[in-house]
Amino acid sequence: DDGDPTAAGACPVVSYPMQRQDPFHPPAEYEALRAQGPVVPATLSFAGGRPAWLVTRIKEAKEVLADTRFSSDSRLPGFPVRRTHSTLIRMDPPDHTRYRNMINHEFVGRRVADLRPVIEGLTDRLLDDIAGGPARSDLLPTLAMPLPSLVICHLLGVSYADHVFLQERTADALRATSTPEEIDEAVADLGRYMDRVVQSKLDAPGDDIISRLVTDHVKTGECAPEVAADLARLLLVAGHVTTVNMIGLGILTLLQHPEQLQELRADERLIGPAVNELLRHLTITPSLARVATEDVEVGGTLIRAGEGVMILLSSANRDEREFLAPDTFDIHRTERGNLALGWGPHLCLGAALARLELQIVISRTLRRFPSLRLAVDLDSIPFRHKVNIYGVHELPVVWDE
Ligand code: HEM
Repeated sequence: DDGDPTAAGACPVVSYPMQRQDPFHPPAEYEALRAQGPVVPATLSFAGGRPAWLVTRIKEAKEVLADTRFSSDSRLPGFPVRRTHSTLIRMDPPDHTRYRNMINHEFVGRRVADLRPVIEGLTDRLLDDIAGGPARSDLLPTLAMPLPSLVICHLLGVSYADHVFLQERTADALRATSTPEEIDEAVADLGRYMDRVVQSKLDAPGDDIISRLVTDHVKTGECAPEVAADLARLLLVAGHVTTVNMIGLGILTLLQHPEQLQELRADERLIGPAVNELLRHLTITPSLARVATEDVEVGGTLIRAGEGVMILLSSANRDEREFLAPDTFDIHRTERGNLALGWGPHLCLGAALARLELQIVISRTLRRFPSLRLAVDLDSIPFRHKVNIYGVHELPVVWDE
């Protein structure tokens, strides 16, 4: 069944994306797609019915994500999703490798572990404010949105006073309902802001990522100031909506599993595995796009040069070949690896930071509010069904004072 992905096969060609029937699970059709094969043909409803391949199982998803014959460059013909702005995350080796090496060391090992007291302090300040008000709060604007923004502002060395502007323009740039013009405008605003920041760090470097980037790579003539500003903008954007929604949906999921939540409150050591399981179970970045630059055979299917591929992370993370009872949320699960943060050369640069932020904010929130519960029925929670990154728009909770 090689060649044109939409050529008639034994099964009717499916249209992607599909709707979720249950807010905590990917579309039920994915199970049948995985059974149909690791690589199945589809048409993309958001791209005028353009054909593309869906990668449904974890083994082949890892294969494709690790294979540099599949490009991340959204300007290439055949790329399934059109994007206006593209740096690092939309680049291929060797350029990708060069740019990534400029900042990778900032996000690994001790560097991230050393941020614990900073993140704990920022989290506690937000929780103090929440606890100081009425015993009811929407945790999205009071906790989930400001925390990642505060952390990345601290790392980049940009002022907290600007964080509301940055948070709003970032949201505008990523909102699926924004028009291309609105997205371009928001991206241009963020770009101009970052250009000014880069210039000021060139003049007066501080102890932060942008300062080190300009000192080590711009002042040496190795790269242009615009490149540093572009990378800084990506760091601001890539880690924001994702972390916000993992905090919101993560807390909501735990509230739906009171027994596991109690265990988590009783034993701090469970928070690492719990966050890992939340990442797998929720997979808020449901798919990644690539385009083949050469003919490549994946799982017995020939994908031809120029054909688009959607790697269904949320299907791969429920693959029954890898995970026992894959639809069960289980913080004691022993299978550790999952694709929620990607795989291969583009593996989430902020993976360690995101895990640490989630561990701190979730465990401290549960500890601070032992009686935390939803303020409304689950049915009234607005889920982000129409946007690229899944999550909740609101998380109204109450607690006993
Ligand atoms: C890449 C998810 C948090 C920065 C990625 C990718 C995924 C992902 C799936 C791979 C994209 C691809 O292969 O095309 C997430 C999730 C997060 C999160 C679910 C929250 C829980 C963060 C944070 C940062 C960040 C906090 C801040 C530094 C990046 C960057 C890339 C990336 C810069 C591009 C890396 C590259 O292309 O080499 N993320 N991310 N992410 N993420 Fe995250």
